[in-house]
Amino acid sequence: MARITVDELKSRKVAKGAVPIVSLTAYTTPMGRFLDPHCDFLLVGDSLAMVVYGLETTRGVTLDVMCAHGRAVTRGSKQALVVVDLPQGSYEESTKQAVTSARRVIAETQAQAVKLEGGVEMAATVAAIVDAGVPVLGHVGLLPQKAEHRGAFKIQGRDDAGAKKVIADANAIAKAGAFAMVIEGTVEPVAREITAQVDVPTIGIGASPACDGQILVTQDMVGLFADFTPKFVKRYADLGTMLEQAVKSYADEVRTKKFPGLEHCFGVEKK
Ligand code: KIV
Repeated sequence: MARITVDELKSRKVAKGAVPIVSLTAYTTPMGRFLDPHCDFLLVGDSLAMVVYGLETTRGVTLDVMCAHGRAVTRGSKQALVVVDLPQGSYEESTKQAVTSARRVIAETQAQAVKLEGGVEMAATVAAIVDAGVPVLGHVGLLPQKAEHRGAFKIQGRDDAGAKKVIADANAIAKAGAFAMVIEGTVEPVAREITAQVDVPTIGIGASPACDGQILVTQDMVGLFADFTPKFVKRYADLGTMLEQAVKSYADEVRTKKFPGLEHCFGVEKK
């Protein structure tokens, strides 16, 4: 089965009649396998710092870690495009650093694209990576990599100046060559306006139903991350509770000697 291409995704503007783009985060091979048939693209997001590694923010995850998880996800997926986040510290210093990191991610993971956070100030970086032959998914609005603690995650675009800033950021990275962009944690009318202004797809998370696609952190939407749940998350399952119940049943059965039964053992003579 052929993977969805960057060009296919790039053309998916809802205003031109496209069906909204579906995306979720994935960090491992089994999760890649489960999500792949249902998603247009999988994001190996640096949110794994929080939902897999237990850190308070997305900062502190390294390029080595992102490459290892990126490879795991491409191994588990067949048809969805795979995008890997460039982690904080791997691309902001210079365009040279950014291109080196982006090339390394693609070479080591076999993903199709990288994502980086930022707008006007990152436009030259986006252009340099795209010029080097690596497709870039942009990310504007709330930028988790800028937050030093969880309380610093703030919804963007609430006042006139804030709205103008996010709109300028989105236009700058579209012009720089991003094939699509995530709009995170941004007031609905601003996300709607950006979607109308830019000619590449917008992927909303805490943004607007008018976006050309939606993304959620998988652990949030299946109830596997209980530390906090942002307003924009819809829970589609409560796997955390199911896991707890399964573990409790297992523990009870081991303690009361109900598990294992002889049917789980080898070399037992059948009666
Ligand atoms: O790291 C991540 O999971 C993300 C999504 C929230 C878009 O950037």
